[in-house]
This record gives sequence, structure tokens and C-alpha cells, in this order.
Amino acid sequence: MSAFENSPASKEFRSDTFTSPTVSMVNAMQLATLGDSVYNEDETTIALEKKVAKIADKPAGLYCVSGTLSNQIALRCHLFQPPHSVLCDYRSHVYVHEAGGLPTLSQAMVQPIIPKNGIHLTLEDDILPVFIPDDGEIHGAPTKVISLENTLHGMIFPLDEIKKISEFCKANDVKLHLDGARLWNASVETGISIAEYGKYFDSISLCLSKTLGAPVGSVLVGESKFILKANHFKKQNGGGIRQAGILTSMASVAIDENLPKLKQTHEWAKELGQLCEENGIQLEHPVHTNFVFLDLKATKIDPDLLERLGKEEGIVLGGSRIAYHYQLSKESRESVKKVVLEAFESAKKNPYVGSNVHKFYNVTGEKN
Ligand SMILES: Cc1ncc(COP(=O)(O)O)c(C=O)c1O
Repeated sequence: MSAFENSPASKEFRSDTFTSPTVSMVNAMQLATLGDSVYNEDETTIALEKKVAKIADKPAGLYCVSGTLSNQIALRCHLFQPPHSVLCDYRSHVYVHEAGGLPTLSQAMVQPIIPKNGIHLTLEDDILPVFIPDDGEIHGAPTKVISLENTLHGMIFPLDEIKKISEFCKANDVKLHLDGARLWNASVETGISIAEYGKYFDSISLCLSKTLGAPVGSVLVGESKFILKANHFKKQNGGGIRQAGILTSMASVAIDENLPKLKQTHEWAKELGQLCEENGIQLEHPVHTNFVFLDLKATKIDPDLLERLGKEEGIVLGGSRIAYHYQLSKESRESVKKVVLEAFESAKKNPYVGSNVHKFYNVTGEKN
């Protein structure tokens, strides 16, 4: 039996990180070079870094073990001396899910903003009113970095708004970082190349172990000098990898083989989104790519019941987020529809009034 057939991923809706390495990834690993990548001597790793940098049209790339590491070292590189702050969406991974990395690693205050339109930050409505200039006024912590996320909860950040924010950053000596863990999804959905997105950012972190299905890794891209410094922080954070070729060989296959499969995962997610809409099941926000977020508060669906019904149907759910990835089976995709409808029917009779609606995604802001 192949690794793929043996994969528990076919039933996993908790995240698109649950995919298993495929036979072709394992085969590629067997052919990987075995240089020491801390010494920058591993050809397979150098090739992957160049490949992703080229995709994003940036001069250099740096392979990291995780998106958390590539985001945090990027932000650390852009920040020199406190007091300083990073402005981002209140749901941003860099703020909510990276174990307090910004205050601990970069001594940075975070300005988490709730976008007025509920979907993405805008320059006019969200950034300008709270931006803290470095103008000698001594009460604030000047905004030195704006960190965007695309996709965020599966939602696509419009390019026109990115352009406006980028122009503002350039004019005000502010660095613009992108957590592009799933920029792949935004790109295949919009048809806008990653290189086009890349024009507007000083740095981008692109994950390979999420939607694309590599077992490990992210690549940070940017200017060569920036990447050299980022490598310094990578080492400081214990992120140096010796025979990284074992991992980067698999990650390279993930890009080649799985990028073309992402659009299909968006269609599957949209199918569930549409079913919810037709049945009056509210979502937290629109489905643009591979995530469906049920509005458990509005629908009064009990998240524990949802998980239990899922288990009975042989699928794994966790909280309000239903994540699609390319290894889900047809059977599982049908089961999830059945489970969501059943949980909603049950909620009509026994509305859930507990507070456990954001079991995995307890972000700050009005939803809590
Ligand atoms: C948007 C986003 N950025 C960054 C990360 C961090 O990636 P990692 O889990 O590899 O640290 C994640 C992880 O799920 C993510 O969803």
C-alpha cells in the first residue's frame, strides 16, 4: 500500500496541514543531495530557495521549518529598535497564533485592527486612523511594519487595496510583510501571479506544508541582504537544518504536483458554502478559497456535537473551520455536508448557548 493510500488525510477537515507525503515526494527524497544547509552547502535546498524566490520574483529565498519561523524572523529583520509597532488584522496568524512572538522576539507592540468591512484591512478606513508616525511625538510606538495575510481565513486580499497600502508604506518608511502561507490559493483563484503580488511587499512567507501538502517547511523571500539577515535570526532561533535536502526535495515536488490541484479544493469548499447558504446556515464570512467558517454563534450549532456527528460519519472536524485540501475523499466530502445539515437541524431544536464557539480560533474582537 502506498503512503498516499494509507493516509489519514482523506477524512481530515481540521486543517489543510493534515495531508500526507506522497510516493513521489518520498521518491524525490531518496534522490536528495545531503549537504549541510547551515553551511549553505545543500544543492537541493538552494534549488528550492531559488525556485520559490523566482516564483515570487524576489532576489533570494530562505527555507525555514515553519511559517511561524519565517514570519517571525521576517518581522524581526524589519524592526530595529523599540519602541515600535506592527499593524495587522486582529485575526492575523502573526498576532493570534504565533505564541506571542512579536513582543518576545521583536519587542514590538501589536496594533490589531478589526477591518470595517469584516474581510480585509483598507488604507482609508482601517490603517490611516490608527497609523502612528515616527515624528518625534513620544507617547506612541511608531508603526514600522504593516503585516498583511493573504489568504486570511481563506479570504482573498484585493490587489488594488494591496497597491494602495504598499504606496503608503513606501512613502512613510514602513515595511510591508505578507504572511502568504496560502498565497498559492489566492493566486490560483484570482489568476494573479505570485510575482505580481510580490511587487508590493518587502517580504513574503510562503508555506509549503499547508495547502500544497509538503510535510515540512516555508520559504521566506525578499532582497538578498534581508535574507542574509533573516538567516542569522533563523540560526538564533534554533532553526538551522543540517541535511535539509531530505525535506526540501519533498517540498519541491509539492509545488510541482499540487499547485494545479488547489482550484478543485476551492470548488469543494464553495459547494459546502452554497449548501449552507441554501439551508440558512450562516457563515462567518464568504468562501473565497479552501475554507468554510460556520458561524456557530449565529447558527447555535454546538461545536462538540459537530465533532461527534463527524466522528460517527468517519470524518474529523474541529470547531467552526472546515478546511479543504487535495487529499480529501469524495466519501468524506459528502459526509461533511450531511454532518453540517444534521448539526444545524439539531441546533434548531436544542440551540447551543455555550461560549465555546471559537474552540480553535478564539481571536480577540467583537465576535467574542
Ligand atoms: C496563515 C498562516 N500563517 C502562518 C502559519 C504558521 O505556519 P506553521 O504552522 O508552519 O508554523 C499558519 C499555520 O497554520 C497559517 O495558517
